[in-house]
Amino acid sequence: MVSDPPYGIAYAKGSGGKGKHTVRNTETIAGDAEPFDPAPWIDFADVILWGANHFAARLPHGRWIAWDKLAGMEAFDSFSDVEFAWHKGRGKDRIFSHLWKGICKASEKGIGKERYHPTQKPIALMEFCIRQCSDAGTIIDPYMGSGTTGVACANLGRAFIGCEIEPRYFDIACRRIEDAQRQGRLIA
Ligand SMILES: C[S@@+](CC[C@H](N)C(=O)[O-])C[C@H]1O[C@@H](n2cnc3c(N)ncnc32)[C@H](O)[C@@H]1O
Repeated sequence: MVSDPPYGIAYAKGSGGKGKHTVRNTETIAGDAEPFDPAPWIDFADVILWGANHFAARLPHGRWIAWDKLAGMEAFDSFSDVEFAWHKGRGKDRIFSHLWKGICKASEKGIGKERYHPTQKPIALMEFCIRQCSDAGTIIDPYMGSGTTGVACANLGRAFIGCEIEPRYFDIACRRIEDAQRQGRLIA
């Protein structure tokens, strides 16, 4: 299970009474007004959860993956320069450096590489996560948003199951994953 769930940030910031976490004043993340409960997922064989620093108290011991979003660039905005994922089990903590700050991006630049989701992750980051997991079995992302984990699975030839509650993001995810699968077939 590799996922980037709603973190419960609106709850953590004490604005839960408004119902949803506001992103760029217009976009909202379903489920983000409540504290995220990782309990249903912890018994999966392999689990990577992004945003887990926001619900770390509900998690057993694990290792941490830090995504360094500046990748050597000097800090220049008011947003976080790093994001954290929890990986079930024992092992060394790891850093993944990949520039992803506004228009400054190490990947997915240019025409046809739109930003589809307010908390969209880089495909390269999700490929790194999948490589951290055992190489057998299907990857599931129960909160797939625009389908980045599914695209990473298509690129790596892994079977994938994704869920998304918002129909518009579900449609985007299906399209992105199908495009990646077609691309994979062209390359193969
Ligand atoms: C942090 S976003 C994931 C973004 C994704 N990593 C990407 O690259 O696009 C979490 C997603 O979970 C979805 N979600 C929230 N509650 C859900 C639920 N109960 N079932 C399925 N999806 C849900 C939200 O609509 C949101 O798109």
